[in-house]
Amino acid sequence: MIKIAPSALSADFGNFRNHIIEVEKAGADMLHLDVMDGNFVPNLSFGPDLVKSIRNDTKLFFDCHLMVKNPEMFIEPFVKAGADSITFHAEAVSDMVALIEKIHSYGIEAAVAINPATPASAVKEVLPYADMILIMSVVPGFGGQKFMAEVLPKAREIRAMAGGEKIKLQIDGGINKETAAYAAESGIDILVAGSAVFGGPSLKEAIDAIRNSAEK
Ligand code: DX5
Ligand code: ZN
Repeated sequence: MIKIAPSALSADFGNFRNHIIEVEKAGADMLHLDVMDGNFVPNLSFGPDLVKSIRNDTKLFFDCHLMVKNPEMFIEPFVKAGADSITFHAEAVSDMVALIEKIHSYGIEAAVAINPATPASAVKEVLPYADMILIMSVVPGFGGQKFMAEVLPKAREIRAMAGGEKIKLQIDGGINKETAAYAAESGIDILVAGSAVFGGPSLKEAIDAIRNSAEK
């Protein structure tokens, strides 16, 4: 069954704790936490202290997406904040396998993200080690952008490169009740959705609509 990971970037920061508690009740399968450094991407979001501040309020799996340069500096702070998985960008790291091993050494999952312009082949070497690959379907930096359908063939390419190796595929950017269906057809396991979940009046209706579209 496909999983839905609402992106906390689109939550109401003035009412953050309650919004996250509500999204758990509304049926979120995990929580996607977008960390931006104003350097790897032209925007700032939040750091480990915010993640830590809600750790005791929810049982949701914390999927931390680090859109930062030098992600190795931030592994321990996010582990201490309660991350269950850390995703770093292939474009930001030279020794990806070493960083995956470092993340695994804390007993949590490790994932690698690729920007729309980065080919699937960039993650070939990490497929035996990573728990998940994140295919960006927008240029990272901001919520609410348009889905780039041209990235979808990368899902099948990565599956083919992985052979029998079990690896989760996640897509992030522009997912809504229309685009979720295309992502699901391409074999994606986890849909990240920010504005489509938090932007409407009902979190539950939004999550259900995305799930129904993906499972059709
Ligand atoms: C983009 C972030 C996404 C983003 C998704 O830089 O990594 O997680 O918040 O937001 P929507 O679903 O609104 O495109
Ligand atoms: Zn993200």
